[in-house]
Amino acid sequence: MHARIIGTGHYLPDRVLTNTDLEEFVDTTDSWIQERTGIRERRIAADGQTTGDLAEQAARRALEAAEIDPATIDLLIVGTTTPDVVFPSTACLIQQRLGLGECGAFDVNAACSGFIYALSIATQYIEAGTVKRALVIGAETLSRLLDWDDRATCVLFGDGAGAAVLEASEEAGVMSTHIHANGNYGDLLKVDVGVSRGFTEGPRGGLKILMKGNEVFKVAVNTLGRIVDETLAYNQLDKHDLDWLIPHQANLRIIKATAKKLDMPMDRVIVTVDRHGNTSAASVPMALDEAIRSGRVKRGDLMLLEAFGGGFTWGASLIRY
Ligand code: COA
Repeated sequence: MHARIIGTGHYLPDRVLTNTDLEEFVDTTDSWIQERTGIRERRIAADGQTTGDLAEQAARRALEAAEIDPATIDLLIVGTTTPDVVFPSTACLIQQRLGLGECGAFDVNAACSGFIYALSIATQYIEAGTVKRALVIGAETLSRLLDWDDRATCVLFGDGAGAAVLEASEEAGVMSTHIHANGNYGDLLKVDVGVSRGFTEGPRGGLKILMKGNEVFKVAVNTLGRIVDETLAYNQLDKHDLDWLIPHQANLRIIKATAKKLDMPMDRVIVTVDRHGNTSAASVPMALDEAIRSGRVKRGDLMLLEAFGGGFTWGASLIRY
């Protein structure tokens, strides 16, 4: 049995924040941001709009595209590092709103690799034969973790959600998933505030993203190079067999480095970072949905999905669409 993608969807909040908008309250310029990151604009959730709200809309679109009764979903996994509340999980918060039955529902926190982690778990259940249909979501409101006085981080991130419905099938689908982590790198990218420690008097109790961007950049390029090699070797494929690269959208320079390693022209690489910024766990499923809905990725195409994020965590998946 394979886990086959039968529907995808994504949702972006309405509010667009451009680089020029940022110039008005942060010491930065549109040209610096575009040159160093490839980002032109990002979306910001409205006041009161939660990760669960974004996830619900993306999931509705994926379920609609799959043309299935939501009650037939056996498993719901949400990759997120910005859950609405500590618990219930975001998955439990949206399960009934989506009309799912009493299926297993939980969140996975693997930062920007959250969707790839969630996809890998759902795939194992489907391949084992215990789940027939799974709904996998990546959803984030990273804007709530931004220090708008820190120009090195606040220009990078945005909000959004993407979703995919997977179904057990004898036809090819997810060919392999690969996940890794190395906690030794935890200090390079973190939100150092949680239930047990770190709260301060500041806004949101001191919740904010702290990042050593330069060091993250170097490890990300190197690690993504290794994970794409691992994925191709596992499947005994050559890089030239790939039709599409659907990368995590953190920085256009990181994306280009991976594309170069794979000898892939940029018209075979799905890029959304210019319009979405880094949406963490939402970035890969949103790019996947854009690629499918725009008609670029077609049934039978071979695509490589990859992600890298805080933890550090990283992962990849090879999928025959
Ligand atoms: N606008 C203008 N100048 C800025 C700026 C901004 N928004 N942010 C930083 N700078 C300045 C710095 O202060 C520094 O100035 P200095 O040389 O006077 O000290 C200069 O730009 C270079 O900073 P540096 O951090 O070395 O830039 P960089 O080329 O590494 O680019 C990032 C910064 C964050 C874009 C880049 O490191 C990056 O993308 N890292 C990976 C981040 C990432 O992907 N994180 C998520 C992983 S999932």
